[in-house]
Amino acid sequence: MTTSDGHTHRHDGEPQADAATFWEGRYRESDRAWSGRANAALEREAADLVPGTALDLGSGEGGDALWLAQNGWSVTAVDIAPTALARGEATAVAAGLGDRIRWVAADLATWQPTGPFDLVTAHFLQSPVELPREIILRRAAATVAPGGVLLVVGHAQFPPWSKHTPDGVALPTADEVLASLELPAEHWTILTKAAISRTATGPDGQVVDLVDSVLTLRRTTAV
Ligand SMILES: C[S@@+](CC[C@H](N)C(=O)[O-])C[C@H]1O[C@@H](n2cnc3c(N)ncnc32)[C@H](O)[C@@H]1O
Repeated sequence: MTTSDGHTHRHDGEPQADAATFWEGRYRESDRAWSGRANAALEREAADLVPGTALDLGSGEGGDALWLAQNGWSVTAVDIAPTALARGEATAVAAGLGDRIRWVAADLATWQPTGPFDLVTAHFLQSPVELPREIILRRAAATVAPGGVLLVVGHAQFPPWSKHTPDGVALPTADEVLASLELPAEHWTILTKAAISRTATGPDGQVVDLVDSVLTLRRTTAV
């Protein structure tokens, strides 16, 4: 719930910054929030796809968008934090990929994607502040082109170094994500629906095994 003081409030009454304020502030805390590398699940799940148009939901500093562009995709990268997008754009321009990625500063709660896209990805689109994730993902799924792919990756557990407090942040399984999308089963093929481990290195060099919920679906060409 957003109030006139510009803050959202949890049901328990604890004040909470709105999404734009929270995430922009989060990125401004340091020069770089994430590694800059693509997520392992993207590299694995998209490795054999024919490049086309891609939409990256909650792109952050653009590690995934950059990887996609390097691999021949034309990318629309959307995030609510302009500082994160500016970092991604600067890296893309320096890499000669400036014309392959469109950076869109927008709140996905209201932003309407204009598809179709051959690939729609959402990696760790999870937030301790208000985020209508299921609505966003359903809306985005509708923009996947026939024959295109939807990839949704989330934390099955938070990394020990996460600044998120687990309270109120859903960690749905791949099965739960699939159910929440409410897709007509006859028009979609499941390529991956699993909890998949990966080894990750934390900010202080600590190495841990983490588990992601990975859902990869292909929209069938037959309608
Ligand atoms: C956990 S980060 C993940 C970033 C990136 N996808 C990655 O894997 O490194 C979540 C991202 O979602 C963005 N985000 C959160 N709520 C949003 C919203 N309502 N609209 C657009 N982006 C949002 C944040 O700014 C942040 O960059």
